[in-house]
Amino acid sequence: MKPMALHCGIEIGDVALASCSDAQLQAIKQAIYERGVAVFRDQDFTPRDHIAFAKRWDGIDVNAYFPLDPAFPEIALVKKAPDQRTNIGGAWHTDHSYDPVPAMGSILVARELPPTGGDTLFAHMGAAYDALSDDLKARIEGLEAFHTADHVYSQGGVYAGTDQAGELRGQDVTTGAVHPVVIRHPQTGRKLLYVNAAFTLHFVGQSREESLPLLMELTSAALAADNQCRLEWEAGTVAIWDNRTTWHNAMNDYHGHAREMHRITLTGETLAA
Ligand code: OGA
Ligand code: MN
Repeated sequence: MKPMALHCGIEIGDVALASCSDAQLQAIKQAIYERGVAVFRDQDFTPRDHIAFAKRWDGIDVNAYFPLDPAFPEIALVKKAPDQRTNIGGAWHTDHSYDPVPAMGSILVARELPPTGGDTLFAHMGAAYDALSDDLKARIEGLEAFHTADHVYSQGGVYAGTDQAGELRGQDVTTGAVHPVVIRHPQTGRKLLYVNAAFTLHFVGQSREESLPLLMELTSAALAADNQCRLEWEAGTVAIWDNRTTWHNAMNDYHGHAREMHRITLTGETLAA
């Protein structure tokens, strides 16, 4: 196992995900809970392997918005064609924080990559929380926040006016959930900052306008370089991340080339302070 950066990410070698033992899977889970994202290279991982491996976790959450693989509806397609300008996930976020029981994580498999670019950045929310000033920690103590995806995926939302609109589903879906601003990781107990600029609209008891300055302050503190790592995808790369421990951001720097990833989202649990 090799750390990818100071706090975030780990590369795990010498394991074939498709046929790993229960003991190996347990060690992989623990590494992901702690480091936020694990990267596996040179994997022989068919769509059937992807689904079978995901079923060894606590279940599969099918994303309400992304196009699904027609042959494997558990698999969401995260793709950008050579003539598209907008990508999916191209801003800091964590998946499904708008659900009352947010997804634990995602298993993303590289299927088609651009010749350069298309990296994914991750940021560690345990390291982010630890590095907050005592003043900021005191200001967010006991706060809760409201999360939704309606402004992102609905008719008038962020993607509606873009060249991804044609493929996205769920324009009529409505979402909303309240979570503590600081959660305890369900498995490790570590304190994690759990707001994100994409889906967290406001603190409970405050308007959007009242909330924005603190949200922005937390966002910029959380994105300190020390908290981040960068994943350069290769053919055969599989990444598994923990949505509670990390945020991620898909770089959109390969216009004119195709990129296609297969994602399975893993079921999580209720989050508590
Ligand atoms: C996602 C996502 C990142 C990427 O699948 O949730 O944000 O690099 N993808 O494609
Ligand atoms: Mn995402």
